[in-house]
Amino acid sequence: MKLIGTTVAAIALTFSSFVFAESPAAGDVEKGKEIAAGICAGCHNADGNSTIPIYPILAGQEPGYTAKQLHDFKAAAGETAARDNMIMAPMVATLSESDIENLAAYYSQQKPQPGIVGDASLIEEGKRLYQGGNLENFIPACSSCHSPNGQGIPPHYPRIDGQHAAYTLSQLQAFRLGTRKNDTNSAMQMIVSRMSEQEMKAVSEYITTLR
Ligand code: HEC
Ligand code: HEC
Repeated sequence: MKLIGTTVAAIALTFSSFVFAESPAAGDVEKGKEIAAGICAGCHNADGNSTIPIYPILAGQEPGYTAKQLHDFKAAAGETAARDNMIMAPMVATLSESDIENLAAYYSQQKPQPGIVGDASLIEEGKRLYQGGNLENFIPACSSCHSPNGQGIPPHYPRIDGQHAAYTLSQLQAFRLGTRKNDTNSAMQMIVSRMSEQEMKAVSEYITTLR
């Protein structure tokens, strides 16, 4: 498992440096700020630091990941969105391609604030799973893709450090239910299918403490 994790991270690193070299200029931060204040601030706060644990913190996220999520919330005619969410679907419906780039750029420049822990007694258990996985059930260490401090490996592996525990848990459950199926090669769906409810809760609490 350790070996597999290392290989995944090595491949991700090689791939990401390639993508970075090729990536075009980023969006317009000032324009992103305007849209964020008008439509998004009610739930995510003006600077993307939501203070309500079911709404994710967007501040400091890698822009490529944020842009991908905004696309994935959009459903093509007659199809279910790759990330099927009733609240976010109408929010993205009228966003243009440049709106999405501008919003992603704006949030990436904001400083993330620490999220809200739900049950601190689960943090130690969550740490073991995050950093070491669970060999018995073939659960890889989360750190192999999201990095040991949760900073992620751009552009494919998002940063998850400091995120609200309630939001993180909701995403692990969405990957399990299949309402969220926008993960490359179904990595997350495969991993959560091997996790217990208790493990999902514990790892979500630990992630909130990462910086
Ligand atoms: C009414 C509340 C609400 C508003 C307004 C709102 N959002 Fe959200 N947002 C949510 C919820 C709830 C989720 C979690 C959805 C899920 O479970 O998939 C979310 C998720 C997201 C995510 C995914 C974050 C991640 O880490 O994967 C992004 C990006 C996002 N919102 C951006 C925006 C932007 C940009 C706007 C404005 C155009 C906006 N949101 C407006 C409630 C809201
Ligand atoms: C093989 C690589 C890999 C491993 C190992 C992995 N992840 Fe992920 N994870 C991903 C990818 C890729 C995404 C982004 C999917 C997308 O594009 O929406 C993701 C997304 C997530 C998200 C959604 C973040 C957000 O802001 O909505 C959470 C939460 C998460 N992973 C938690 C975990 C946990 C907990 C573990 C360990 C039990 C783990 N991941 C292990 C690849 C991985």
